[in-house]
Amino acid sequence: MGRAVGILGLGSALPEQILTNRDIEQMVDTTDEWIVARTGIRERRRADENTATSDLATLAAERALADANLAASDLDLIIVGTVTPDMFFPSTACLVQSNLGATRAAAFDLEAACSGFLYGLTVAQQFVSSGFYQYVLVIGAETLTKITDWTDRNTCVLFGDGAGAAVLGPVSQGRGILANRLGADGNGGYLLHMPGGGSRMPVNQEVLDQRLHYIKMAGNEVFKFAVRTMANTALAALADCGLNKDSVRMLIPHQANRRIIDAVSRKLGLAAEQVMINVDRTGNTSAASIPLALDEAYRNGCFADDDVLVLVGFGGGLTWGASVIRWGV
Ligand SMILES: CC(C)(COP(=O)(O)OP(=O)(O)OC[C@H]1O[C@@H](n2cnc3c(N)ncnc32)[C@H](O)[C@@H]1OP(=O)(O)O)[C@@H](O)C(=O)NCCC(=O)NCCS
Repeated sequence: MGRAVGILGLGSALPEQILTNRDIEQMVDTTDEWIVARTGIRERRRADENTATSDLATLAAERALADANLAASDLDLIIVGTVTPDMFFPSTACLVQSNLGATRAAAFDLEAACSGFLYGLTVAQQFVSSGFYQYVLVIGAETLTKITDWTDRNTCVLFGDGAGAAVLGPVSQGRGILANRLGADGNGGYLLHMPGGGSRMPVNQEVLDQRLHYIKMAGNEVFKFAVRTMANTALAALADCGLNKDSVRMLIPHQANRRIIDAVSRKLGLAAEQVMINVDRTGNTSAASIPLALDEAYRNGCFADDDVLVLVGFGGGLTWGASVIRWGV
């Protein structure tokens, strides 16, 4: 058993532009009613052409550092979970390190799609728990609207942009991260992917013509996987630290679809006020979704010191994860 590790500060950032369902009605054959009924999403944020993932990540990070009462120069490591890096390299984490002036920090990106923040949290915990590092910044940041096919009604109604950040460091024994669970099933990778633009299919005219540089998804299959995996993973993580669903003050689920969240909440027997939901205003922001939701719940005073939170998510890869946190430092 290493040191207890917890969240010392939180921050988030959303681009200003709001894209409503009515706006999307102008782009593809869909309706506000269909989108609300099938997904619970009413609007999402969209980054403008001058805003990249590192810009939102930097803003969220500055807010998290201020909340933790720490300076950028205190950071030992920056991890950015994203599938929409500014570019292949340098990593978005290195761009954020430069923006912040975090001169002592190592920096790398981590790609686990919508599970990216939970993967980042778990990796960061190992560094702090072992004593190797003191302060690690974990960011989930995305500009998914830039890899969204705005002619595909199956996907374009779902996604949005944003960033959320957490500063991790040592906390009192008994508080902080109590358990983490991570999983992956690469056999399902084809269910949710962006096939073009990488080394398998470098960008060329054919890739562009076939729109392979955009998100492709088998929505129905992903839906079933999500409901099954999220509930099981949350319960397994709770069992890992000797707790059960009655111990949970609040669930902070990945915000992909209101119906998925409701199904998971039912399986866990949680009341409406115990489940953080902002998908109606953010859409699915992939790696940014859990830290955005956590930051909003934190700012709204939805939980207090010593409350038990369960963060749970799933995403492309396929990947999934859950963290159980006893709040407080
Ligand atoms: C995408 C999703 C909302 C679709 O909802 P669904 O209830 O599964 O709907 P289906 O895929 O069965 O499609 C039903 C019909 O609606 C149509 N449809 C799809 N998108 C539509 C849209 N935006 N507007 C209107 N109709 C639409 C389909 O073409 C289909 O029509 P058909 O029956 O004539 O073929 C849902 O499957 C989902 O949320 N899946 C998970 C996706 C996800 O979370 N991805 C990110 C993971 S991190």
